[in-house]
Amino acid sequence: MEHEERIRERLRSEEGFRKITTAEEAAMLIKDGMVLGVSGFTASGYPKAVPHALAERGKSGEKIKVDLYSGASLGPQIDTELTEAGILRYRMPYMTNKNLRKAINAGECDYVDMHLSQSAQYVNYGVMPKIDIAIVEALAINEDGSIVPTTSVGNTPSFVKQADKVIVELNLLQPAGLEGMHDCIVLDNPPNRGPINICHPGDRIGKPYIECGWDKIAAIVITEIQDGLRPLGAVNENSQKIADNIIDFLNGEVAAGRLTDTLLPLQSGVGSVANAVLYGLLDSDFHDLTCYTEVVQDSMLELIKSGKAVCASTTAITPSPEMKEKFDQECEQYRGKLVFRPEDISNNPEVIRRLGVISMNTALECDIYGNVNSTHVNGSGMMNGIGGSGDFSRNAGITIFSTVSTAKDGAISSIVPFCSHVDHTEHEVHVIVTEQGYADLRGLSPKQRAVRIIENCAHPDYRDMLMDYFKRACEQSALHTPHILDEALSWHARAQKTGSMK
Ligand code: COA
Repeated sequence: MEHEERIRERLRSEEGFRKITTAEEAAMLIKDGMVLGVSGFTASGYPKAVPHALAERGKSGEKIKVDLYSGASLGPQIDTELTEAGILRYRMPYMTNKNLRKAINAGECDYVDMHLSQSAQYVNYGVMPKIDIAIVEALAINEDGSIVPTTSVGNTPSFVKQADKVIVELNLLQPAGLEGMHDCIVLDNPPNRGPINICHPGDRIGKPYIECGWDKIAAIVITEIQDGLRPLGAVNENSQKIADNIIDFLNGEVAAGRLTDTLLPLQSGVGSVANAVLYGLLDSDFHDLTCYTEVVQDSMLELIKSGKAVCASTTAITPSPEMKEKFDQECEQYRGKLVFRPEDISNNPEVIRRLGVISMNTALECDIYGNVNSTHVNGSGMMNGIGGSGDFSRNAGITIFSTVSTAKDGAISSIVPFCSHVDHTEHEVHVIVTEQGYADLRGLSPKQRAVRIIENCAHPDYRDMLMDYFKRACEQSALHTPHILDEALSWHARAQKTGSMK
């Protein structure tokens, strides 16, 4: 098909053709000190050409700083290139990028790591400085100027609503078959917010496009750039053991009559454990599975393709590059089985609690009483952020956290007396899983939890040390949650001395 014909299929108004410009021209609309709201959630569906052009301005010596709001972490044209160009002054609500992490920990970029479900409402409530320009990747722009998103929805509906102007990157490489899979809505602010009528992961409550209008669209850039996806980490022995332990736990719930063999809607974080768990379900007796999550990776796509899973609600797909290639060709197979929602809906506490989601996320460290640190190495260094883990863990029917029992080649125990930073408290963490086993903490007192976590989850090299700490803490303080605080904190200091917690 001719280039212009391909554009015409997706740019459905003459008005749109008048707004076509280059990435460099569009980037010139961005001025020093502006607030940008960008589409994208993980390295999916984010704008690529305009941020790259903006980074080039910074690299050529122009003094320009911006605040950047997104759905979550983003691909390299934003989080790597804008960081390297020294352009990011402020970033929210999540990132996973090495360069940006370094800049954040060095104090060069202010970072607000927050519950993803709350990030759109911060913008809609006016808590955050107003967005000057939204930069949005689109599959199509309809006749009335409404925008069809690509591989993620994230916070885009709210950013478009709140921005003064919108720059659209119309990406001809994203598969046309995605159209119709999005379910977009902007929630009213309280007291006008009604119930969110999702009683099954596949229910739809919005529109397959984002409301906008030609008067807001300041520029359109035609692109053909793939999402900056990365290959998936291989499932190693420990991830496989953790996945097996999670599946054992789920089997136990079925045997006890608390779950059926269709389970409840699944949510899992990204990474090799998440993939191993879902791949484990592929070979299991579970059937008619559903998913209510924020990111769909290869394993969930495979579950849908194989018929094991009947539907998945998400805000983004983050396949490996090989899987994305297949997905682009087989997009139609997923119609009616994949729903892309804004992240304040995909991660909404009301819906997660109603559906009884089984939530599976990852910890850096867990303490013997069941508190979890997912974000701060040694209590200070930002790793990535809380992301959606708190949205799900605080509201799920079953909240599972997993971690390998040791870090840094065994030099650090991931089970500690006292977490150096707490993201998820003992009150919402139901099950802790390591490669050693799982600890079902539901209904247990703090002292009962400590024994179960040490016995079932700690690495044998650290079990005696942890039990010795717990016993002495019980002797010295006969209180509800026994601690010897000086010693609990020096546990981390000792690890720091090894240099392994930097
Ligand atoms: N102390 C010090 N360092 C530790 C540690 C500990 N207890 N546990 C892990 N680390 C280090 C690892 O050595 C590794 O360091 P490296 O990058 O220098 O190799 C790094 O932290 C990441 O650890 P890894 O075991 O590779 O973990 P991961 O890739 O499974 O990520 C989290 C774990 C917690 C960082 C990640 O899951 C996360 O950011 N979670 C929060 C957000 C979230 O859950 N999002 C999904 C919600 S849907």
